[in-house]
Amino acid sequence: MWDFSYNRNYFDGIISTLVVEHGLRKQIVKWCEDMKNILKPGGILAFAVPSIKDPRASSGYEIEKNTRMNTNQIDGDIPHHFFTNQEIESLFRGYKILYKKLQSRPSATADVTAEHWEYLFQKV
Ligand SMILES: C[S@@+](CC[C@H](N)C(=O)[O-])C[C@H]1O[C@@H](n2cnc3c(N)ncnc32)[C@H](O)[C@@H]1O
Repeated sequence: MWDFSYNRNYFDGIISTLVVEHGLRKQIVKWCEDMKNILKPGGILAFAVPSIKDPRASSGYEIEKNTRMNTNQIDGDIPHHFFTNQEIESLFRGYKILYKKLQSRPSATADVTAEHWEYLFQKV
């Protein structure tokens, strides 16, 4: 997905908005581990992913638990994973949650109101 040839504890901040949901579970875990490794202690991760409450979470067909293909949106031909807050917080267990919100706003990729989890995590 991206070049992770960075040293550990390299970045003060990382922004990951609406991208990692396009992986299968194994990839999502790996991408999150990579981000955690390159973030400095005290560093901030801004993280947003679709919620399981998003209306597209019941469109298309399931290829893995809560991961769907052919969802009802312009990029529906790639996997979309829909997250619970427990799942997100388990991916970043041990991190301090500075901000957490289930955000509703018009989708950029479909004519629906999207439901996204937004977090600010701090590496402790
Ligand atoms: C919904 S858009 C979000 C774009 C932007 N981050 C934002 O928040 O507005 C999803 C983005 O994920 C990218 N993407 C999807 N699968 C990817 C992959 N396997 N590797 C890298 N980028 C990917 C797409 O190209 C697209 O730019």
